[in-house]
Amino acid sequence: MRKKIVAGNWKMNGSNELINTLLPQLAEVAETLSAEVLVCPPAPYLVSAKAHAGSSVLIGAQNCHDQPSGAYTGEISVGMLQELSVGYVLIGHSERRALFGETDAQVAAKVVAAVQADLIAVLCVGETLEERESGRTLDVVLSQVAAVTKVLSVTNWSNLVIAYEPVWAIGTGKTATSEQAQAVHAAIRAALAEQSADAAAQMPILYGGSVKADNASELFAQPDIDGALVGGASLDAKEFISICQQAG
Ligand code: G3P
Repeated sequence: MRKKIVAGNWKMNGSNELINTLLPQLAEVAETLSAEVLVCPPAPYLVSAKAHAGSSVLIGAQNCHDQPSGAYTGEISVGMLQELSVGYVLIGHSERRALFGETDAQVAAKVVAAVQADLIAVLCVGETLEERESGRTLDVVLSQVAAVTKVLSVTNWSNLVIAYEPVWAIGTGKTATSEQAQAVHAAIRAALAEQSADAAAQMPILYGGSVKADNASELFAQPDIDGALVGGASLDAKEFISICQQAG
């Protein structure tokens, strides 16, 4: 039985005050849950987030580079995240693909680097509205997943989490219906099963895109939705705690 994971992606938001107020409240609740609770703040806050998260809230980065070091101004290596005991990293978020031109190959290289450093890589995939309306949702999403699974050995899939985030649902308030999300999650799992039925069955597949306290439980009730990757709502303690509690 797959554990639920509720992850918060703060994006380029947050403050010391939010770290100091939200994380202790979240840690108190997370201790009572079986779901895993993950918070991904901007990089400058990773150390203080770890200090305020206690043992019940996991801390992750929002990106990493695929090289161990070098002339990559502004970038962060997986070794640096390891030194901070940051165990998770979001990779390939649609905003990084769209705004920073990240390709499937670059995303795959980052996942491999993260997994080789024994981090848990949260691979973000999702289609645009134009791709959905032209009937290419599964082509796009399964191609993004395959770009990683063709270079990541199945023996390392235990360090992989997939987050399906339809781009048209991110930050728009237009959440995918639970049926729409379940259909894509099931297709992802079926594609993974072609390589390994066991590993596919164990792969956490999260949904992201306007997850709120009032829609989380219906999403979590779907057989192939194993949690959520939450943006805006993760910045509000009450809202995010409610989503985590609905994961159980
Ligand atoms: O990574 C999660 C994010 O893309 C979803 O954002 O604000 O729609 O929950 P939001």
